Amino acid sequence: MRNLKSLILSKNDNSLIFARKFTALSQKKTLVTSALPYANGPLHIGHIAGAYLPADICVRFMRLQGKDVAFICGSDEHGAAITLRAKKEGTTPKKIVDQYHEQIKKAFQEFGISFDIYHRTSSEEHHKTAADFFKKLYENGSFIEKETEQFYDPKAEQFLADRYITGECPKCHNQGAYGDQCEKCGATLSPEELINPTSTISGEKPIKKSTSHWYLPLNEHEDWLRDWIENGKLNGLQHHDPKEWRNQVIGQCKSWIDGGLQPRAMTRDLDWGVKVPLENAEGKVLYVWLDAPIGYITATKVWAEKNGKNWKDYWQNENSDVLHFIGKDNIVFHCIIFPTLLKEHGEFNLPKNVPANEFLNLEGQKLSTSRNWAVWLHEYLEEYPDRVDELRYVLTSIAPESKDSEFTWKDYQARVNNELVAILGNFVNRVLVLTDKYYGGEVPAVGDAVEGTEEVLKAIAEAPEKVARAIESHRYREGLSEAMNLARAGNKYLAETEPWKLFKTEPEKVKTILHHSLQLTAALSVVLQPYLPDVCKKLHEALAMDSFDWGTSQKPILKVGAKISKAGLLFQKFEDEEVAKQVEKLEKAAAANAPKSIEPIKAPTSFDNFVGMDLRVAKIIEAEKVKKSNKLLKLQVDTGTDIRTVLSGIAKHYKPEEVVGKSVLLLANLPPRKMMGMESEGMILMAEDADGNLSFMSPEKDFHPGSTVN
Ligand code: 2FM
Ligand code: ZN
Repeated sequence: MRNLKSLILSKNDNSLIFARKFTALSQKKTLVTSALPYANGPLHIGHIAGAYLPADICVRFMRLQGKDVAFICGSDEHGAAITLRAKKEGTTPKKIVDQYHEQIKKAFQEFGISFDIYHRTSSEEHHKTAADFFKKLYENGSFIEKETEQFYDPKAEQFLADRYITGECPKCHNQGAYGDQCEKCGATLSPEELINPTSTISGEKPIKKSTSHWYLPLNEHEDWLRDWIENGKLNGLQHHDPKEWRNQVIGQCKSWIDGGLQPRAMTRDLDWGVKVPLENAEGKVLYVWLDAPIGYITATKVWAEKNGKNWKDYWQNENSDVLHFIGKDNIVFHCIIFPTLLKEHGEFNLPKNVPANEFLNLEGQKLSTSRNWAVWLHEYLEEYPDRVDELRYVLTSIAPESKDSEFTWKDYQARVNNELVAILGNFVNRVLVLTDKYYGGEVPAVGDAVEGTEEVLKAIAEAPEKVARAIESHRYREGLSEAMNLARAGNKYLAETEPWKLFKTEPEKVKTILHHSLQLTAALSVVLQPYLPDVCKKLHEALAMDSFDWGTSQKPILKVGAKISKAGLLFQKFEDEEVAKQVEKLEKAAAANAPKSIEPIKAPTSFDNFVGMDLRVAKIIEAEKVKKSNKLLKLQVDTGTDIRTVLSGIAKHYKPEEVVGKSVLLLANLPPRKMMGMESEGMILMAEDADGNLSFMSPEKDFHPGSTVN
C-alpha cells in the first residue's frame, strides 16, 4: 500500500484523482451496533452473551486488522416498561433512567465492552434526530393515519399502552399476563386477547376509546422484504449473501412475512418519549421501537462530531457495512421494521448482517429478571473484579449462536480450571518462567532441531487464519476454540519435549523449544486479544510487544535477544466453595422473590357464628411490655363503652410507643382469657402475611371508638 500510494502521488493530476478514489474505496467502514438495553434494570449474563460480547469480539478483531469501525450503543430510555416501573416505585421515569443508565454504562466499561460511544435516547440530540426522521417519513407519505379503538383507563384519564394492561393469558391462564406478552408461557399477545383485562394504573376495567395514530403499512413492503431476506437482493442488486445470515434469523423473518405483515402503529398515547413532531399530536410520542433504533444513528452522529468524523460515511455510504448485534427477541424489529423505515427514508444503508443470538439459560431455567433468576453483571464484577476475562471466556464458549445454551457455575468452574488455568495459564507461565530462569529473560535463538517443532510452526502459521475465518462468519465460539487449540499445541510441545529435563544435557534443544514456545505465546496474545483483552494486555507487557496487528501473529513476533518479563498468574482456580456460594446465592435470591404461599381458606362457618362476633373500632390509649414475655404487649383500649385491658402478641412487631393512639379492630365479646397471670378482655385483629409480618386493621376513616364492624 505504501508503495502504491507514493507511486501514484508522484504522477500527474489524473493519477491523483485515481489515488483519492482508490483511498476512498479502500477505506471500507463498518458500523457495529449492539441492542440498546432498556434503562430500567441491570444487565445480566444473558444480555451480555446475546448482544454485547460477540459484538465486542468482532470490533476488537476488526480494529486489530486496522479496519475503520465504529462501535455504537446506548440506553433505550423510553417505552412503557420504564414509565410503569417509575409508577410502581413512586418515582419519575427520568430518575429511573438516570440511575440505570449510569449503572449499565459502568458495568459495560468494567467488563471491557469497548463501545466508541455509549449514548442515551433521552438526550436532546436524539429527540431531534428521531423527530426529524419521523417527519421526513411523514412528509414522504410513508405512514397512514388510522383511527382505532384502544383501551383507556377512565379513572386515570389515559390510554393504556400494552404493558399497562394485565389479565388472564388465553393460552396458559396465568393471571398476570401483560397486554403484549405472557411472561409465563412466552406467548405474544395483544391486549384484546386478555381475559378480564385490568388497568395496572388504577386496577379498573379499561374501556375502549377511539384515538388516531400513524401506522407503517408493513403489508405494502412484503415483496421487497422477502427478496431482501431470502435472496439478499435489494432494488434488484445483490446486497448481501443470505448464506452468511444465521438460519434462525432468516427463519423468523420468513415466518413473519409468510404470516402476512400488518400495518404497525408508529406512535403511542404516552407522555414519556419523543413527542410526535406534528400539529394536533398532543399527548402522543413515537413508538419506542421506532425511536430506539434511530438511537444508533444519533449516537453515531454524536461520536462522529466529537472525533472529527463524518457520520454519513458509516450510514449512508455504499462502502460501509452495518451490523446489528441483538438477541432473538429483537429480530423482527431489526430485520423487518427498522429496515423498512430506513428504506423509506431513502438515504441509509440496510444491515449487511444481523447476527442474532438465541437465549442463554441459567442452571436449568430461563433467565428471568422478574423472578430474579439471573447472574447480574454488576454483582459479578463487584465480587470478581479480577475475573473479567474468565467470564468473557465462558460466555463465548457457550454462546447461544445457533440454539439456546446454558450457563451453570459448575461448568464455569470446569472451563476456568480445566481450560484457562490448566491449558493457557499453565503453558504461558512455564514458558515465561523457564525463559527467565535459563536465559535471564532474553529470547533465545533457535538451536538444535527438536521433534514436534514442525507441528508447532504449522499451528502458529494457521491459527490466525482459522480464527479470522470463524470471527468473520460470526462463529465466535469456533474462533475461540481455534485460538485455544494453539495453546493446546504449545502445551503438548512442552509436555512432550520436557525442556526442564533437557537443560543440562541438551541445552541447544532447549533453546529451540523455548524460542518457538515464546513465539507461540506472542501469537496467542494476538489471536486471543479480541476475546481476553485484559490477559492479553498482561502478555503484551511481559513480551514487550508495543506494536502489533492481526497480521503480526502469522510471523515470528519476538526478536532474538529481546528482553521479556514474567507475567504473574494469568488465571486463578475457581474453587468448589465459590460454586456452592454462587448457586446458593441464586436460589436465595429467587426464593426471596417467589410469590409466597397463601394460607388455604378454612372450612365454611355459619352466618350466625359471624354475627355472633362483636367487632368494634377501639383506640389504644396506653401500652407497655409484659415482663418476662417477648411476645406480649399489655394495652389499655377505649371501646367507646369502657376502658379495658387487652394482651396482644405483637411485641416483636411494634414498640409500645408506636401503638398508642392507633384505632384498631377489636373482637369485644370474647370471654376473658388469662395470660402471664393477667386477664385479657378481647382480641385485637391483625393481618399477617406469608412472612409472618403483622399489621393492624385500622379503619380507613377516623371513626369513633365503639363504631361497629359488620
Ligand atoms: O429489547 C431490548 O432490550 C430493547 N431495548 C432493544 C432495543 S435495540 C434498538 F433498537 F435500539
Ligand atoms: Zn401464558
